[in-house]
Amino acid sequence: MNRLLTNNSKKLGSLILLSFVIAGMIACQKKSSTQTNHASAANCESKASITYTVHVKPIMEASCTNCHNNSRRADGISLSDFTNTKDAFMNHNALCTVHQSGGCSPMPRMAAKLSDETITTLDCWVKQGCKE
Ligand code: HEC
Repeated sequence: MNRLLTNNSKKLGSLILLSFVIAGMIACQKKSSTQTNHASAANCESKASITYTVHVKPIMEASCTNCHNNSRRADGISLSDFTNTKDAFMNHNALCTVHQSGGCSPMPRMAAKLSDETITTLDCWVKQGCKE
């Protein structure tokens, strides 16, 4: 009887562990797929090659770097150079924040939403692989 109980609780333990692992996997997938969904849904045909230096940097400087720079990193994020901006858009949820469609904090904080045109530029920058 005792042995049966320990066996069962061991099984229950691994079952619980397994469900945490699965939940974790789903959560991660969800995060990265929201990113790529925004980018892949964008129509980039009319957009020539988008680069950080020409297109994205001015957008960041107009709307984001006040709070996200190398000395003031709101939420640990800097958007004031190519490497950090690429990281925020490729690996974190920066696209999600400008789309303001839920699942992340809307950005820019305490300011008007970026124009559709500007958001599409950012989507297409990501879709084209975040060129410098
Ligand atoms: C007025 C200051 C301010 C501006 C301007 C601003 N941010 Fe933020 N940002 C914050 C603060 C504070 C946080 C952390 C708290 C929060 O999530 O609201 C944050 C968080 C974030 C996050 C993490 C959000 C999350 O849910 O994980 C991202 C990504 C981000 N900002 C991107 C941007 C982008 C892109 C812009 C420009 C379009 C921008 N921010 C403009 C202050 C700002």
